[in-house]
Amino acid sequence: MRALLVDPAAPGSLRLGEADDPRPSAHQVLVRVAAVSLNSGEVKRGLSTAEPGTVLGWDAAGVVERAAADGTGPAVGTPVVTLGAQGAWAELRAVDVDLIGVVPQGADPGAVSTVPVAGASALRALDRLGPVLGRRIVVTGATGGVGRFAVQLARRGGAHVIACTGDPDSHGPSLTSLGAHEVVTDPGRIDGLVDGIVDTVGGRQLVDGFARLTQGGTVVHIGRAAPGPVSFPDGAFAGAPAGHDRALVTFYLLGCHGLGRDLTVLAGMVAAGELEPSIAWRGPWDDAASAVEALLDRRLHGKAVLDLR
Ligand SMILES: NC(=O)c1ccc[n+]([C@@H]2O[C@H](COP(=O)([O-])OP(=O)(O)OC[C@H]3O[C@@H](n4cnc5c(N)ncnc54)[C@H](OP(=O)(O)O)[C@@H]3O)[C@@H](O)[C@H]2O)c1
Repeated sequence: MRALLVDPAAPGSLRLGEADDPRPSAHQVLVRVAAVSLNSGEVKRGLSTAEPGTVLGWDAAGVVERAAADGTGPAVGTPVVTLGAQGAWAELRAVDVDLIGVVPQGADPGAVSTVPVAGASALRALDRLGPVLGRRIVVTGATGGVGRFAVQLARRGGAHVIACTGDPDSHGPSLTSLGAHEVVTDPGRIDGLVDGIVDTVGGRQLVDGFARLTQGGTVVHIGRAAPGPVSFPDGAFAGAPAGHDRALVTFYLLGCHGLGRDLTVLAGMVAAGELEPSIAWRGPWDDAASAVEALLDRRLHGKAVLDLR
């Protein structure tokens, strides 16, 4: 099969080449991939640390080519969206039946390919915050893949949504159209206290966000778009009259259970036009280098989608 292979000497560290077809285990489905989306983590860390020749990739959408040998999962011909630790950037992907969402017939595979990591992370982080109806919810890195889904899902849940972006002038209108009530540069600029935070940036934004939590509030720390040491001031974790019982929780998507159902729900919402996939770059997979470079240069504010051809 053809696949995007890690190649440190190639533009974007990716080369379209030949790889062995995957051999599914009994509980895996073989999927013919039509489109994939890129995620920050696999591009920023995966490409620089993987062995040459590795087939990376977490998100892929396509059609079931061969059903799972154990009789579970979708049948041959079913349109699906898939999640896994690697192997998405290829014509064929073996994927666990538990990490597959069923997609409505006729849905754009590129649009639904944005869902697995970004959409499911946003959904699970909001789940962790509990009911958001009437709550003040902050999303840091709101222009990113996870952030744009989190803004929309929080708004659908009835939250007052505060979106953070380094450039509110440029991105304010699009974030507002996705459902944000307020757009600010960072949690340090928020007036008043907040109930929950979906944090994809870390660093100073994590520290300032935690300081603004109300009693019973939670920060779900998903990612470190701004990597580096995090330093909380002395007393940050002490109880206070206005901010008692606050929580800071970590997050790891592939450690979550029952993700297949989430993928089905999210893909259905995207297909129905109820959730905007926020595709910022789309092109053929032999131009993956352009997408990778845009992501690394922080020129992407949304998802990058590669169509296989
Ligand atoms: N733990 C997990 O299971 C899990 C799951 C999904 C994602 N993640 C992590 O979550 C983070 C966000 O993922 P994503 O896919 O949404 O990333 P993304 O699409 O690259 O978006 C990140 C956003 O963060 C903002 N940002 C602020 N400071 C930044 C900096 N110094 N460099 C780059 N961006 C910066 C950018 O918005 P502005 O330019 O508008 O400020 C950008 O749009 C990543 O660290 C990723 O690895 C973790």
